[in-house]
Amino acid sequence: MQRLEMLYEGKAKRVYKTDHPECFWVEFKDDATAFNGAKKGTIDNKGVLNTQISTYFFKLLSEKGVPNHFVSLEGDRDMIVKALKILMVEVVVRNISAGSLSKRIGLSEGTPLDFPIVEFYYKNDSLNDPLINDDHARVLKLATPEQLQLMRQTGLQVNKILLEHLSDKDIHLVDFKLEFGIHNGRFMLGDEITPDTCRFWDKHTGEKLDKDRFRRDMGNVEEAYREIYRRLTGTVFHSDES
Ligand code: C5P
Repeated sequence: MQRLEMLYEGKAKRVYKTDHPECFWVEFKDDATAFNGAKKGTIDNKGVLNTQISTYFFKLLSEKGVPNHFVSLEGDRDMIVKALKILMVEVVVRNISAGSLSKRIGLSEGTPLDFPIVEFYYKNDSLNDPLINDDHARVLKLATPEQLQLMRQTGLQVNKILLEHLSDKDIHLVDFKLEFGIHNGRFMLGDEITPDTCRFWDKHTGEKLDKDRFRRDMGNVEEAYREIYRRLTGTVFHSDES
């Protein structure tokens, strides 16, 4: 497949047109940002690691019957995906209180939740991606009631699959963010599933193995991403790019 002109450059990815009208080309960057772009940096090998980690999760979800945009890998840091029209709602599912939930409702970080919490955020950088509810999403015409219901259901289904899978790898799935879109009238999961978009804690030590290490200047950021890769694939990551 041929990569054509760039359609969009995000904080962690570039999206290109291809010579196939049904497909986009996604390139994962090493750039890292936090706090809506206020903190910027790079994480060595992040683009390659996230491409491989996301591929791993999308394949797992496809096997379990969760429709998603993944088509194929293209080299180390590029992925062919179905061309989606992305819904401007981010779906966060949480199992353990952390991050903005702990700040917002005062549950200390690390408190297990009695049941998974699903939240919707408005994908809008100039408003700092605010938390919204179903009514806000409907008034803003971000999604239909049926799509919101599907986002919630699929979010919980993905949570169940990932929780179980990661537990076998000694990883606590604390929370994660999903994005959805429409392809030929079909609702499906898009974007990425990586340590940029999930909180992963070691099951025994509680060590953070995700982007919080970058957000909070904890050091060993690349090592954490490599460790997630190793636990998922059973192989040590080697970069062919350098
Ligand atoms: O910051 P907060 O606690 O709301 O994040 C919840 C989860 O969603 C975390 O796993 C975080 O990595 C992810 N997230 C994301 N993109 C955002 C906001 C949050 O991937 N814009």
